[in-house]
Parts: sequence; structure tokens; C-alpha cells
Amino acid sequence: MQPLLQLTGIEKSFPGVKALNGASLAVYPGRVMALVGENGAGKSTMMKVLTGIYSKDAGSLQWLGSEVTFSGPKASQEAGIGIIHQELNLIPQLSVAENIFLGREFVNRIGRIDWKKMYAEADALLKRLNLRFNSHKLVGDLSIGDQQMVEIAKVLSFESKVIIMDEPTDALTDTETLSLFRVINELKAQGCGIVYISHRMKEIFEICDDVTVFRDGQFIAERAVSDLREESLIEMMVGRKLEDQYPRIDQEPGAVRLTVENLSGPGVDNVSFTLRKGEILGISGLMGAGRTELMKVLYGALPRTRGSVTLNGRTIITRSPQDGLANGIVYISEDRKRDGLVLGMSVKENMSLTALRYFSRAGGGLKHAEEQLAVGDFIRLFNVKTPSMMQPIGLLSGGNQQKVAIARGLMTRPDVLILDEPTRGVDVGAKKEIYQLINQFKAEGLSIILVSSEMPEVLGMSDRILVMHEGHLSGEFSREQATQESLMAAAVGKQHSEDLVV
Ligand SMILES: Nc1ncnc2c1ncn2[C@@H]1O[C@H](COP(=O)(O)OP(=O)(O)OP(=O)(O)O)[C@@H](O)[C@H]1O
Ligand SMILES: [Mg+2]
Repeated sequence: MQPLLQLTGIEKSFPGVKALNGASLAVYPGRVMALVGENGAGKSTMMKVLTGIYSKDAGSLQWLGSEVTFSGPKASQEAGIGIIHQELNLIPQLSVAENIFLGREFVNRIGRIDWKKMYAEADALLKRLNLRFNSHKLVGDLSIGDQQMVEIAKVLSFESKVIIMDEPTDALTDTETLSLFRVINELKAQGCGIVYISHRMKEIFEICDDVTVFRDGQFIAERAVSDLREESLIEMMVGRKLEDQYPRIDQEPGAVRLTVENLSGPGVDNVSFTLRKGEILGISGLMGAGRTELMKVLYGALPRTRGSVTLNGRTIITRSPQDGLANGIVYISEDRKRDGLVLGMSVKENMSLTALRYFSRAGGGLKHAEEQLAVGDFIRLFNVKTPSMMQPIGLLSGGNQQKVAIARGLMTRPDVLILDEPTRGVDVGAKKEIYQLINQFKAEGLSIILVSSEMPEVLGMSDRILVMHEGHLSGEFSREQATQESLMAAAVGKQHSEDLVV
């Protein structure tokens, strides 16, 4: 089949990094091409070269059969290539419709912007994606998932021949993901070619026809998805066999460290549970069930309206995240863009930001050598791909930024570590490294709360699992009792009293 788009032998270097080193990719009409590879393998860079955001150092780019160079994103867009970037690119102060049609507003006969038409067209796009908000809404007032859907609507409005989706489902609910998949199938039927970048194996096998594998900026293979099994795909990505994705350690948990009683707050309704030393407590539930809100009330980012929290035998009151931190509760955000990392600062500064008091001297000043050592250790441990610890974190690949966010929480040596969707956007190999590290901390007696939408992750890592539904607990399961089915039933609110341990 003649590809719409063919890139061959692409090379691209940044200071200290060879991001692409002989990378190739073909996109065929009416087919979805998955692009997979470890964090930092060069996937997003390849898309930026392809759409003219970066110029290539070498290699060939053929569009509809002829060699081209796109001078910038506008040129590739006009040629018929649409891209949904890994990072959101919307303007929060503008409405949904204004964002969608930014720079190409409709003009009526007398030269004025035709707002009516613009909002009508935008609403039609939102409807096609099954979205419930209207296009007058300000983007800044939308959830991250809805903002992502606006990005998708924007790309649809261009009627592109090739559409690139760089980790599009990262912030989406299951229902939103299904809407997206429906649209992908429509686009395929219209003859569009799609590039689908994702670390979620399930989605690749569900929605993609072909897959291209990158490793260290190089092309490794192109295969039909139907000819592949998950294990062999993972092996091509990481270059070795990955056995036992969830390396759980069996260990009797210690004494109770945290007791939460009748906790209520915004989106949280009368929740009680305990957490022991050396225990991993999984929190499952659908998106919007109140898991993140529960964590925020617990460590002080949202106001507590009722209930008590006892930590190490002392009642604690957390009115701010600083209170949480001072009491030894650390929360690692699911939304690292908003309240996680400072993109303009270095890897080192980002990692030690919250841990500074551990590196502070009694008389003021910093223990620079110690800080340096600790940061270096974490970079090695997590295999963070960066030319140096002084690199601004915004220049790291998405998954590598996530690794730094986790390392930052761990550096404070908390008593209770809350990980909210810790492996979102992280590649399969690095996921396992993160799990091993979590286990190591568990063995040292740290108490861990693991909030995750990925059921295999919750089932594979947790000693005990709580399920939330509409702000309250709808199930508690021991590791032995828990199954995908029982967690799912509790997540949708079908509570069975025999499933409850307490
Ligand atoms: N503008 C830049 N300046 C310096 N280095 C960069 C820049 N953009 C990307 N890199 C580096 O190039 C390499 C490839 O990054 P890229 O973002 O393409 O990876 P990726 O495959 O998309 O990874 P992920 O799965 O984590 O998103 C990384 O080492 C990254 O840090
Ligand atoms: Mg990327």
C-alpha cells in the first residue's frame, strides 16, 4: 500500500542528546499506526520534525509521494497533517470555540467575525465527540480530560489527511476514550491515516492496525498488530524480556500508622480507613469517583468539613499541603503540569524542591554535596534520560518528567506516601522500576497509598484495596479477594456486603 506519509532515516540532535538516529515511519490511508518506544525514545521529537516544529538534521520526508520540507506547523497543517500534542496547547482565558478556531475565525459579508457560525460549528464538533459542555465555556474552567477533548475537536476541524495523536487518552475517562475510538474508526473509514502514540498496550491492540517500534531514536520494526503478542512487542521496545510486571513482595504489614475516620470534604463523603506500616493500600474507582479529592482532603489541599485523622498516634489537622508535608504526608500529583513540576527549572532543582529542608544546614545554607549525591542516585535509579541534572525539566520527554516528579516525593522520606496515577505516561520498563522502588520503600516500613485507574496495577501491587464510588467507599478487598470483576462492580456502585472485609 502506498503510504500517505513516509519518513526515512531521520536524524535530530539537541545539545548533549541525539534524539533521533535513523528513525523511520510510514502512515497508510485508512489505517492506524501505533508508534511505541520507551520514554525518551524519540516519538514526540519525530512528530515535531514531521510537522515542521523542528528541522531535521538528515533524512527524507515524503508527503503524498513527493519529498517536502514543512517550514513550520502552519505549513504542515495546511498540507493536511493535524497533531494533538502530548502537552496541551490551549489558551485558558478563551472560550472553547475561540480555541478551536483561533487564527481562522469565520468572517461574514461585512468583514466582521461571525460568532454565531463559529459557536455553531464548534458545538457540532463537540457533539460529534459526545461532549456535554458547550463551546461558550472557558477552557480554563474545564477538567484536564475535557481540555484534551477540545484539542481533539480542534484537530478534527482541520479535516486533515493524517492525524497524529501523542498519548491522547492520558487524561481521559473510559467513556471519553470510547468516544475517541469511535471517531478514530470514522476517520479511518474516510481514508485518514492516523499515528497513535501510547504506552497503553491495551489500546494499541484495540485500536491500531500496525505498529512501529523506536528504541534510542532508532527504527526497530514495523509490524501488523494482528501478528504480534504483547510480550513480543514489549521485548522489541525495551530490548529485553520483561517478566513479572508487578514484582509484589509479600510481607506482613506492621502496626497501624494512619487512621482516617468519617472524613468529609468537597466530593468526599464520610470515608474511614486505616493504613499500616509497610503496607500498600490501593484506591480504585472510576475517574471522578472522588479518589483525588479524598487524598487532597487528607493531606490538606482541600478543606476538611468533618472527621479526624490520626497519624502515628497523634491527631493531626491539615489545613494546607505544607501541614501535610510537615506531618510526613507527601502527595504526588496526577496532574504534574498544574501542581507538579516547574518546567523552567532544572532536573536537580525540581527533584529537591520539596526536600530542601533535608539539605539545609542548621545555620542556613545548603548541603550542596549531599543534595547532588541524592539527586544523582535518583537519576540512576529511575534511569532518567537527561544529559545532566542541570537540564531544564521542560526539555525532558513526558515520561522522564514523571519519573522526576515521583523521585521528588520520595526524597522527602515521608511516613505516608500518596501516589496518584504514578505510572501514567511512563513506559513499561520504567513502570517496573517504579514498582520495584515502591516495594523497596514498603520493605523499609513506608506506608503507601496507590491511587490508580489501571486495575492490573492496583491488583498487582496492593496489599489491600479500597474502591470509591461517588465520593464514598463502596468496597474494601484483601489482595486475595480482589478481582477485576469485583473491583469494577464496586466502582460502579454495585456494593455487595459479602465483599466487604470490614
Ligand atoms: N527541545 C529539546 N531540547 C533538548 N532535548 C530534547 C528536546 N526535545 C526532546 N529532547 C530529548 O530528546 C529525547 C527524545 O525525547 P522525546 O520527547 O521525543 O521522547 P518520547 O519518545 O516522546 O518519550 P515519552 O514517552 O516519555 O513521551 C529525550 O532524551 C529528550 O529529553
Ligand atoms: Mg513523548
